[in-house]
Amino acid sequence: MDVTFPPERRFTTRSGQAMRLRPIRPEDVPNLFAFRERVSRESLRMRYFTPRRRLTEELARHLCTVDFRDRAAFVASPLESDTIHGIGRYERDTPRSAEVAFIVEDALQGQGIGPALLERLAEHARGQGIDRFTAVVLCENTPMLTVLRNSPFRPQVTVEGDCAFVKLDLTVLAGPAARPAARGLASAPLRRLTSPA
Ligand SMILES: CC(C)(COP(=O)(O)OP(=O)(O)OC[C@H]1O[C@@H](n2cnc3c(N)ncnc32)[C@H](O)[C@@H]1OP(=O)(O)O)[C@@H](O)C(=O)NCCC(=O)NCCS
Repeated sequence: MDVTFPPERRFTTRSGQAMRLRPIRPEDVPNLFAFRERVSRESLRMRYFTPRRRLTEELARHLCTVDFRDRAAFVASPLESDTIHGIGRYERDTPRSAEVAFIVEDALQGQGIGPALLERLAEHARGQGIDRFTAVVLCENTPMLTVLRNSPFRPQVTVEGDCAFVKLDLTVLAGPAARPAARGLASAPLRRLTSPA
């Protein structure tokens, strides 16, 4: 597959740890298996709606091999290693829209990694002609709904049964003025996110 890997960005977690948001690579298969060992069944249930999704070698290769056009994935890693702490991915489902999903290892949830991955994915997706993200989230999944609701992308949420269907408008340019003031989000993390690593 002829792939142009997008650039890394740096960001700082809420506890002050510098991390990289880097494109996933085929060589990440062992890192993905190690990551899955650190993810709880409950987090897997929130991500896949079942705690039993087995990671086979074939699935791992599929998840790590993306074209960065119709399928893209970024991972959060420390500066000094390729350890995976979180993954955000999109899969294009119409010419201008893609479905997104995220997973962060349990010990690092609540550190702002999910929102950082969302912003990086959105930046990349816009460059690929995608102007809408969709997400299907269990209604009980308050952390994910918080990330999406607090995003600058004018979230629209529709509830059907146990699931929330969320649409994000990527044509809203992410910037300090667009960010919800109520959360007190400083513009600094965004600048960090958009400065090349
Ligand atoms: C949903 C998820 C990706 C969010 O990523 P994250 O890096 O934890 O995002 P944040 O750090 O911004 O946390 C989001 C909010 O949830 C809260 N939160 C995060 N983890 C939490 C936890 N385990 N328990 C309770 N609250 C939690 C945070 O405090 C934050 O709320 P705040 O902004 O009001 O403080 C991550 O929690 C996760 O991987 N969950 C399991 C998988 C999943 O649900 N995937 C979504 C499928 S689409």
